[in-house]
Amino acid sequence: MQTPVAVLISGSGSNLQSIIDQTETGSLPVRICCVISNRPDAFGLERARKHGIEAVCIPSKGKTREEHEREVVAVLDSRGVQLVVLAGYMRLLGHELLERYRGRVINIHPALLPSFPGTHGYEDAWNYGVKVSGCTVHFVDEGCDTGPIILQAANPIEPDDTLETFRQRGLKIEHQALPEAIRLYCTGRLRIEGRRVIVEPDRSAECTG
Ligand code: GRF
Repeated sequence: MQTPVAVLISGSGSNLQSIIDQTETGSLPVRICCVISNRPDAFGLERARKHGIEAVCIPSKGKTREEHEREVVAVLDSRGVQLVVLAGYMRLLGHELLERYRGRVINIHPALLPSFPGTHGYEDAWNYGVKVSGCTVHFVDEGCDTGPIILQAANPIEPDDTLETFRQRGLKIEHQALPEAIRLYCTGRLRIEGRRVIVEPDRSAECTG
């Protein structure tokens, strides 16, 4: 069974690419129904088209959050989307989208939450001088990177790192973490209990006889 997924982006879409790649090799049981960008120049839209995936631009500029989200929700609903993945989508979600898709929206953040939320995770962690950073995949709520955490992966700082090498290695880690979280969701292994996300054991290999 392939879960119908929408990926929301605002920029380069390297995380989107990692989802596409794992979908194409068959290691991720999802069908990407559409990619939606709030920015017309997002390179991720081209990535989607190149792989025959519907790429939709719904500009957010000049609209209220409600107006914009109403348009997004209309597309999600009409494509039968079950899971919404925010992959570099640089907007907070509001009532319109969350009322309809609560518990079915996940986001990747480039730091170990609750440290360094917001739009500059790599820079903020680097400038603070942390020795270990990483990324977090979490369910989305109304806050800024505050929803229940699905998984985290570490990115220790190396002695000769620059911000750029730290970021490049971090992105590679993100490209494993996000598809892994999607896999856990789509195989029914995630249960939200308050702030905690319980990851159920993988029973797919168990004998049923
Ligand atoms: C990633 O670092 C992601 O964690 C953050 O925005 C960046 C998007 O990169 N939310 P890309 O567009 O997937 O290349």
